[in-house]
Amino acid sequence: MAFLQTHEVSMRFGGIDALNGVSISAEPGLVTGLIGPNGAGKTTLFNIITGLQPPTSGQVFLDGRDVTSVSVYRRARLGIGRTFQRLEIFGSLSVRDNIRVTVEVRRRWSRQRIDIKHETDAILARVGLEEFAKVPADTLPTGSARLVELGRALATRPRLLLLDEPGSGLDAAETEAFGLLLADLAQDGLAVLLVEHDMDLVMKACSHLMVLDFGELIASGTPEEIRANQQVQDAYLGAEEPPVGSITEPGLAGAGTLP
Ligand SMILES: Nc1ncnc2c1ncn2[C@@H]1O[C@H](COP(=O)(O)OP(=O)(O)OP(=O)(O)O)[C@@H](O)[C@H]1O
Ligand SMILES: [Mg+2]
Repeated sequence: MAFLQTHEVSMRFGGIDALNGVSISAEPGLVTGLIGPNGAGKTTLFNIITGLQPPTSGQVFLDGRDVTSVSVYRRARLGIGRTFQRLEIFGSLSVRDNIRVTVEVRRRWSRQRIDIKHETDAILARVGLEEFAKVPADTLPTGSARLVELGRALATRPRLLLLDEPGSGLDAAETEAFGLLLADLAQDGLAVLLVEHDMDLVMKACSHLMVLDFGELIASGTPEEIRANQQVQDAYLGAEEPPVGSITEPGLAGAGTLP
């Protein structure tokens, strides 16, 4: 079994089948992409993997263990870290304090001796935010604020990292740097699962892609195979209108729009 494995996960909201029997996987050392049109069910699947939402049916396995009924907090301790489609940072705290508080929380649960200053500095360096360390997080442009959120996720020392549209709001240079950072994180042994509409980033960063459409897994393969897949072309890649990110949309946090 893969390190992360969802088994036949379904999610029904009222009359909407947001997910229908979806089995996906992610492995350490790899960046795996999860793509698909707005409303396909990507964020819903992240919510089920992290434990924010119980699935209507199906299971989530982490490292061979069924974690479907494990609380969101305990799953975080087991090594599931994530970032949100809508930014979740402490706006009034400095960049450094955003990361430091998460390191402190981990020290409390892990009961390990952690040098908080050293660990915070290392994470700031890793995400390239040293020069902004003292700046209030809500004064940063979106691209840098997304790195703060990534830094916070890394401060929990995850083994599985779920990233929900981290590329939205990044300019071309920031996107390129972000792709390199993802490769580094995977090389360090993290299993990275990336939800992203920026196809340049997806095609470059991911070694394997899975495609959701209307809650169904319609394809899985290498970026080349996915690009050449006619069903994926019809459902997503060939769309005349580029898909839109949802961070500026009103409504439920993380909820998409019906296509
Ligand atoms: N809490 C909820 N209550 C009711 N319906 C929901 C809820 N969350 C999501 N949905 C619906 O489930 C479907 C999947 O939404 P989801 O946000 O998972 O899509 P997505 O693939 O992340 O889309 P996007 O690319 O726009 O972020 C959509 O039809 C959405 O409206
Ligand atoms: Mg989403």
